[in-house]
Amino acid sequence: MATIQLRTAIPGPKSRALAERRSSAVPRGLSASTPVYVAKAQDAWLEDVDGNRFIDFGGGIGCMNVGHRREAVVSAVREQLDQFLHTCMQVTPYELYVRMAERMNQVTPGKFPKKTLLVNSGAEAVENAVKIARAHTGRSGIIAFEDAFHGRTMMTLALTSKTHPYKAGFAPFPADVYRIPYAHCYRCSYSMKYPECDVYCARHLEDTFKRVVASRDVAAVIAEPVLGEGGFVVPPPEFFPALIEICHRHGALFIADEVQSGFGRTGKMFASEHYGIEPDIVVSAKSLGGGLPLAAITGRAEIMDAPGPGGLGGTFGGNPLSCAAALAVLDLFEKENLLDRAHELGRHFQRRAKEWQKRWPLVGDVRGLGGMQAIELVKARERREPAAEETKQITQFCYEHGLIAITAGSYSNVVRVLVPLVVTSEQMDEAMDVLEAALQGVSEKP
Ligand SMILES: Cc1ncc(COP(=O)(O)O)c(C=O)c1O
Repeated sequence: MATIQLRTAIPGPKSRALAERRSSAVPRGLSASTPVYVAKAQDAWLEDVDGNRFIDFGGGIGCMNVGHRREAVVSAVREQLDQFLHTCMQVTPYELYVRMAERMNQVTPGKFPKKTLLVNSGAEAVENAVKIARAHTGRSGIIAFEDAFHGRTMMTLALTSKTHPYKAGFAPFPADVYRIPYAHCYRCSYSMKYPECDVYCARHLEDTFKRVVASRDVAAVIAEPVLGEGGFVVPPPEFFPALIEICHRHGALFIADEVQSGFGRTGKMFASEHYGIEPDIVVSAKSLGGGLPLAAITGRAEIMDAPGPGGLGGTFGGNPLSCAAALAVLDLFEKENLLDRAHELGRHFQRRAKEWQKRWPLVGDVRGLGGMQAIELVKARERREPAAEETKQITQFCYEHGLIAITAGSYSNVVRVLVPLVVTSEQMDEAMDVLEAALQGVSEKP
């Protein structure tokens, strides 16, 4: 039986009523890409309050890599519910936090001694990574990338690139942040072509140290190993090794923000592993907690120990329920072939999306790693003019036909796949049929 089941027009009456209450009670700054309100979710589907069932390509923005409400996660949380909910690691500590830190030290790239700090969200983790890098190096400068997204707090907004809707109107941001172009081959800022460019974008860091900020003042370079909100851009394999070599030669750290690309999404536990790199600090969040809020900063032990006692922390960081859920998530990755599944999904997606690219000029680029896949939509393939309006129409068609799909990209013209990795092949086909119909409808509109 098909997973998608629609009983009402979308949104249904109960979702519409909730949207009205929302608009009086919740600030409009918290936008919603889909107008349906969820009643329950399981594995790769969710059901709304009107009884409509959708396939979920959003996963709560990439938080459900192991699937919604997996039994192992739910029962680990239930067990912890009967013990204690909160004591604060800084007041009366508990073993779950320590166990979680030990597991993170094992699963992140690099065989060197590591330590892990747990916090609540991706942005809070990035904030802490910056604090730790500054404390360790005694330098303040941070270099981030064009098209980067690191969060919505003040420091992470300084690191984030996209102006609307994230940064516009919220300045001033913390100082000493510098920005350089990412290895975005489809929209190269230097108008060069890979491989002839010899990853000039990485080598350009040397130039930045001469012309923009002295390397002696730079604590770290921070990058997403695959751009998330920036449009699922995958750099060439030489980019990060070249970049990190320059960082280290100049005494700067390399921080990998794996908040979206991590936890199995790309077919490796961390996308960094695709490039054979060992970041000095890795930031994880989203799918780490299996649906509960948890984030981690994992790094070389001597770097993580730079801030003195009391320099790091927060009331709820490493909450016992979140740790219990995350340990169950890690067990699931060990027991199930979710990494292989991510690769299969990637191949499945690319096979069909490349066909679409041949059929419709609207599909400008198809790209991704493993289960982190996207299509970039353009109005004229040669000029690569972003098709943001068409992208919106496509996601609307999708949710009206039973597929939750979300967008990305600095030009809001990318449709991305963050499907829970437990999606069945039948569900994947069903979802891809909806996406294909959406593309056909928009491409062939008279
Ligand atoms: C790469 C990256 N870093 C940081 C964040 C911020 O995470 P959070 O929303 O949990 O604060 C996000 C969120 O989308 C992200 O994709």
